[in-house]
This record gives sequence, C-alpha cells and structure tokens, in this order.
Amino acid sequence: MNIIWPPSYTQTPHNHLLWAEIGVYIGREDNIFWRRSAPGSKWPIEAVGAASLCVGSHCSFDSEVIHSVTNPLDSLTAGLHVYGGDLGLPPRSAWDGETLLEAPLSHARDIRAIEAYNVSLTV
Ligand SMILES: [Fe+2]
Repeated sequence: MNIIWPPSYTQTPHNHLLWAEIGVYIGREDNIFWRRSAPGSKWPIEAVGAASLCVGSHCSFDSEVIHSVTNPLDSLTAGLHVYGGDLGLPPRSAWDGETLLEAPLSHARDIRAIEAYNVSLTV
C-alpha cells in the first residue's frame, strides 16, 4: 500500500494483527509503540517504545504491534506499507487518543483528516 499522511496528522493507537514492513520515501513518520497494560492499571495500554522513520528508513512490525503514527511535518509524508495478509479481514482495534479506550477500528477520523487536507488545497 502507498500510504500518504496529511501534514501534522496523528493516527491513534491501532493494531494490524498482521506482520508489516513500513518504509518512508517522503517526509517523516513518528511511531509510538504500545502494549496492553496489566489488569488493574490506570490506562488500558502503555507506551513502550518509539521509532522515527525518515526518508529511506524502514521498520518491521510483528503481528502483535500496537502503534500510533504522527506526521510531524507541515508537508505530506508518504511510505510503502507491506502487510502479511488482508488488513480488512481481522477484527482490528483502535484506542482513543485521549482515553486510550479500545474500540473496533474505524477509519472515519483518518478520512475526515484527508478530506480536510484536500479541501485546504482548493481554497
Ligand atoms: Fe498502522
């Protein structure tokens, strides 16, 4: 998949349930890696690492990865994403950016951000 992130956009924590290889060819994407917290913890997930992918760099994800992605730039970031299966098939999750509560994955927020960016190009 050829994925393009709008400027200054963050995709909230989500899983893929598939292995993935992510490489950036324009801009930069900053990943935070998360894991499910121990039962009784204040937050359902907790940050455990990070990786900033610049042009020419890549990262391998195993199928258990939960990550959030930020394009920190005022310009587009683009990357090639290879997944070990069909992203649309597994019942994937996303976690709210503020409460970190888990819910079924929806791309509605991503689509709104892309549409807003596209509108900004025509004004
Ligand atoms: Fe992802």
